[in-house]
Amino acid sequence: MPDFTNPLRNPHDLRLPRIAGPCSLVIFGVTGDLAKKKLLPAVYDLTNRGLLPAGFALIGFGRRDWTDEHFTNYVEECVRARCRTPFNEATFAQLASGLRFVSGAFDDADAFTRLSDTVSELDRDRGTRGNHAFYMSVPPSAFPVVSRQLAASGLAKSPEGAWRRVIIEKPFGHDLASAQELDRVVSEVFDPNSVFRIDHYLGKETVQNLLALRFANMMFEPVWNANYVDHVQITMAEDFGIGSRAGYFDGIGIARDVIQNHLLQLFALTAMEEPVSFSAADLAAEKTKVLSAVRLPKDLSHHTARGQYAGGWQGSEKVVGYLEEHGVDPKSTTETYAAVRLDVDTRRWAGVPFYLRTGKRLGKRVSEIAVMFKRAPHLPFESTATRELGSNAVVIRVQPDEGVTLRFGAKVPGTAMEVRDVNMDFSYGSSFTEASPEAYERLILDVLLGDPPLFPTTKEVELSWRILDPIEEYWATLGQPQQYRAGTWGPAEADEMLAADGRAWRLP
Ligand code: BG6
Repeated sequence: MPDFTNPLRNPHDLRLPRIAGPCSLVIFGVTGDLAKKKLLPAVYDLTNRGLLPAGFALIGFGRRDWTDEHFTNYVEECVRARCRTPFNEATFAQLASGLRFVSGAFDDADAFTRLSDTVSELDRDRGTRGNHAFYMSVPPSAFPVVSRQLAASGLAKSPEGAWRRVIIEKPFGHDLASAQELDRVVSEVFDPNSVFRIDHYLGKETVQNLLALRFANMMFEPVWNANYVDHVQITMAEDFGIGSRAGYFDGIGIARDVIQNHLLQLFALTAMEEPVSFSAADLAAEKTKVLSAVRLPKDLSHHTARGQYAGGWQGSEKVVGYLEEHGVDPKSTTETYAAVRLDVDTRRWAGVPFYLRTGKRLGKRVSEIAVMFKRAPHLPFESTATRELGSNAVVIRVQPDEGVTLRFGAKVPGTAMEVRDVNMDFSYGSSFTEASPEAYERLILDVLLGDPPLFPTTKEVELSWRILDPIEEYWATLGQPQQYRAGTWGPAEADEMLAADGRAWRLP
């Protein structure tokens, strides 16, 4: 039998590639959109980068009446369409040798017996050694039944010297109460240390770079506080609509979809204090503290905004409004744009608002964190010289043009003295030769390695719902959200919200 042991000699040297030990990954919901677009290509890319053990196996579980061969063809199609690294026949053949499909419904106990048999076969023939991760790429309503079936079939329990882990996709509930209930169900079956909640924004290189930017350098942290910062804008804008996801999106809305998780995680990493270390516990301690210090404005009507996209033009494409999208209730009050103001009751951030905004069908696809500085207390120039001077800013460009921009004033050449804003850019693409891995590559690998720092804890999830719940409750009392034309930057309400504070949204 080949030696499947982890060849990494010094697991503490984080510069070295980390290679997963013997294991398999079971995906529930393997024919869904996420698996097709992200998970299957990520597993292939990990294989191609040599980060999975030779005996690695991937089991798809789904209702389709597929054989292993059907499944292999499906995986190949998904991988060819979206792999990040080049498609290589030999790599795919290696992955394909460990592909299995178990056909069945989530409430079918026999299917889970077949899954258990498949897992035993892999332990015997491919050396997976009892180590198996279960990826719930399914709606939250299916978590309880899948968890219970895993428990009943004995799959959730780790044999001596082996591990079992469960990966849970968002949304973690739709409010605090349902998130707590979900947690109760999952923790009945799995040990809390073996539960990995995915927030794929934490797997993005640019998001991890926030930690490097803030805590590996001298020049940012001294000004990262209320003495120098005027406010912070966190933006996640998309230039597409809901596509075929009406079933998931309508009734949930964009705030539950991405503010509760991605944007609040970006907020926490931007606003938290320096952690003692980057261990899961130390990171969570700081994120938890800052999430607990969030205060919502008293008057939510002036400090939050909602919108719903109307038809219009997105580039050269004519697009329909949200209410005309296939599968959407034509009277739906679900928001496709949301903006909120948060204040943070700490010495570091007293008086510095954090504005979070997100929307579908906006002007362009961009995610960024913009730390906007106060104006210099005194400008020893003629007032005309600095008329075009805006605020200094540090902009962490999460995507698509990954990097960091510093914005500051510079003298316009040829003038006696005129100062205008200029940008100084760091771009991943030009500074590093290697392309960044996809978030799901990093996160799947971390689960297989049992490395939890990039996964939000239950406490963080709960605190995020505590922040969002009152806003959702308030919005539920309102009628239809304000409409905004596709391809624009959201509803007028959002601009008014910032104007009331004497500020304006950045045009990313
Ligand atoms: C998902 C949301 O979590 O993130 C989607 O459910 C959103 O609505 C997506 O489009 C965006 O991810 P990314 O990585 O493309 O910014």
